[in-house]
Amino acid sequence: MGLVYRLFARPILALQDSEKVHLRTLKILRIMCSNPITRLPLKFLYKPKKKLEIDLFGHEYSHPFGLAAGMDKKAEALVGWETIGLGFIEVGGITQHEQDGNPKPRMFRSSSSRSLINRMGFNNPGSEKMAFTLQSHYEKHGKPKVPLWINLGKSKSTALDQSHTDYATSFERLWEYGDVFVINVSSPNTPNLRELQNDESLAKIIDSCQVINRMLAEKHNSSLKPILVKIAPELTDVQLETIVNTAMSCNCDGIVATNTTTSRPKSNSQSEQLVFEQKGGLSGKPLANKSTDFIKKIYSLTDGKWPIIGVGGIMNSDDAWEKITAGASLIQAYSGFVFEGAGLTKSVVNGLSKKLKQNGLSNISEAIGLSHKRNGD
Ligand SMILES: Cc1cc2nc3c(=O)[nH]c(=O)nc-3n(C[C@H](O)[C@H](O)[C@H](O)COP(=O)(O)O)c2cc1C
Repeated sequence: MGLVYRLFARPILALQDSEKVHLRTLKILRIMCSNPITRLPLKFLYKPKKKLEIDLFGHEYSHPFGLAAGMDKKAEALVGWETIGLGFIEVGGITQHEQDGNPKPRMFRSSSSRSLINRMGFNNPGSEKMAFTLQSHYEKHGKPKVPLWINLGKSKSTALDQSHTDYATSFERLWEYGDVFVINVSSPNTPNLRELQNDESLAKIIDSCQVINRMLAEKHNSSLKPILVKIAPELTDVQLETIVNTAMSCNCDGIVATNTTTSRPKSNSQSEQLVFEQKGGLSGKPLANKSTDFIKKIYSLTDGKWPIIGVGGIMNSDDAWEKITAGASLIQAYSGFVFEGAGLTKSVVNGLSKKLKQNGLSNISEAIGLSHKRNGD
């Protein structure tokens, strides 16, 4: 199926505006999955039959491969992602206020380098409407059967020194709907957002969310929601260590590495060059090694004791294996679905399952950080 997608669908899609294709694809997925009869063939074709179970953040994941933030910003196709077999779904980024994002066009694709450049700028319905959407979804379909993660960003109109209120307001409005929350301080498309990665600002944002977390957990007589921080791949070793220490001391439950990069690979053609000249964050294959290096560093810094979510350039099971053995407990993709299609999940899960056997392992948890253990780090 992946081959059919690569040979026929991808070349046709490549001729069209990337954002329009994206919105149309989401709509088709939503419509096809709104009915149990049309859901069946999708489930049959795409849902992995193999299980690679892993327990994390108080939930059981049937396998470690999930949907990265930005793909379903408004939580429009939750049933669809479940149907095609994602292990977990991250929706958003959501900000306190509704916003349109940057002017279009703002998403560009280079098929030859399997990369995307985007400068969406957190186009999203805002956390109030998002809470309503999720409430309606839960009433109609029940809670998703896979863990639902919510990615939080900062509204462009909120002053940088008030960022903590923006994140905390969204967190409060969405608290009861999400299983895990990701504080995104790393998108390159909201002016100065990445400055929030400095320890003082980051601590203030996390602390503000943790106050709400304790209050709501007590009110609902339930446990605290796990909070993760998502980082940029443009950090020095010292900055990375500071962020890890800050996030851990503020009781964050883990880290997502990484967001898109502002750097550009060498281009091999004029068409690549035209895409790479666009402003914004680059994702996909050229990001893979950089994000894996960050995973390795974080794993070493934390002695493998703090969950890392690996994202960046996963296009197949080899890429997924690299991230897990570098230290990621769970992995995610966005660009991989654009270039490989909906069959990516099944091929990653089947491939990982084979690699476990080849390495004489019985459980995916045993593969986490394996490359460090083998190197005697
Ligand atoms: C169009 C687009 C929008 C994105 N929006 C968000 C977002 O709102 N929040 C976020 O944390 N990451 C966002 N990302 C980053 C992805 O979640 C992911 O970290 C990045 O694309 C690297 O993964 P990939 O190489 O598999 O695409 C976005 C990426 C793309 C391509």
